[in-house]
Amino acid sequence: MSVTAKLNLKRSLELFEEAKKISPGGVMGIRRPYNFVEGEYPVYINHGYGSHIVDVDGNDYIDMLCAYGPIILGYNEPEINRAVCGQIEKGFCFALVQEVQNDLIKRLINLIPSAEMAILVKTGSDATGVAIRIARGFTGKEKILRCGYHGWHDWCVEVKGGVPKQIRDLTLEFPYGDLEYLEKLLRENKNEVAAIIITPVGHPLAQPVSAPAPGYLEGIRSLADQYGTVLIFDEIRSGFRVAMGGAQERYGVTPDISTFGKALANGYAISACVGKTDIMNVAEKEVFISSTFFPNSLEMVAAMKCLDILEREKVVDAIWESGTSFLASLKDLVKKTGVPASVSGIPPMPFLTFDKDAKDYKERRTRFYTETIRRRLFIQPYHHWYLTYRHTKEDLVNALSIIEEALSVVASEFPI
Ligand SMILES: Cc1ncc(COP(=O)(O)O)c(C=O)c1O
Repeated sequence: MSVTAKLNLKRSLELFEEAKKISPGGVMGIRRPYNFVEGEYPVYINHGYGSHIVDVDGNDYIDMLCAYGPIILGYNEPEINRAVCGQIEKGFCFALVQEVQNDLIKRLINLIPSAEMAILVKTGSDATGVAIRIARGFTGKEKILRCGYHGWHDWCVEVKGGVPKQIRDLTLEFPYGDLEYLEKLLRENKNEVAAIIITPVGHPLAQPVSAPAPGYLEGIRSLADQYGTVLIFDEIRSGFRVAMGGAQERYGVTPDISTFGKALANGYAISACVGKTDIMNVAEKEVFISSTFFPNSLEMVAAMKCLDILEREKVVDAIWESGTSFLASLKDLVKKTGVPASVSGIPPMPFLTFDKDAKDYKERRTRFYTETIRRRLFIQPYHHWYLTYRHTKEDLVNALSIIEEALSVVASEFPI
């Protein structure tokens, strides 16, 4: 199997050079080229359709990164477009709220086991920030135990720059899957912990997602009760994907508060903090939550339509079914090519983890992602992939055949 030619990325790279002069780093955070394979991936996208994206140089890719999670159906969904256009004509930004806010909240309460009340905000970081503020307000305690990525705000950001030490010191991290370590933190910080916040299906960035081991989430639930702390599930990625009611529904453990975002509106910026009435009610007067744009209804209308489609077409079941066979085929390919890597993730969020102990591990990974992007499969070296409803059988067969070719190149260039 021979390597293929580099993509034409002329326009993307020109735009990126321009961006670096007008915005620090050109583009923000995880979208920076060094998070992919620099010089091999596009930087700017022109448009998307179904399960595909097209960059500004006209390269058309099967997309399995799905905007880092919001795209659950596909790009450019006509039904959602129509609903949003209808709302644009009525207006969506007022000094007061619109009726759709009640409709969406009632719907979330019906779908999500832990939801007795909800607050609608815009981004995932907004929702986790609201959850933390409510937990602190409710308990009168300040420390937070966290596991996973929860956004960019002061209380949880990994990069130290710009965050006061006093705030950093209030957040302590624990590893996914280790109940003993969590209990040790709770013991050492007795009567000081406002909340435990965890992404229930594994740590998204430091390690791949995985289904919780039997008893793990139940163990956290009982520790939270024992130490009088609020349990928050951060379901920003797992909501409407692991199950309509999130990981809490699929794995049967109910937190006190949970946060939802990403897939809720198939790409529109909306998120929610939901939880038990007695806890959520501190936001009635004791804690402050407000923003000019929180009540904008365009995203709420998109969310209502997205939920209609998810329910009507049983999208979660369909994605689990196609994801289950995708994961099985991926495992076969790794075995067949003998590349030191293992398949991880769960059916809606697959990933391939290259074996860190094998010689040439980084080179192997870089070559794999170079070969997949050159063959027009858009996946990410440091983040799990996603399946959407609009990935056709043909898309997934093509993606697997690209992966097989890339693994074969890796196997022949970096023999073990
Ligand atoms: C689990 C989790 N929580 C919170 C966030 C933050 O969401 P946002 O980027 O919309 O602020 C993310 C984003 O990737 C996430 O994966």
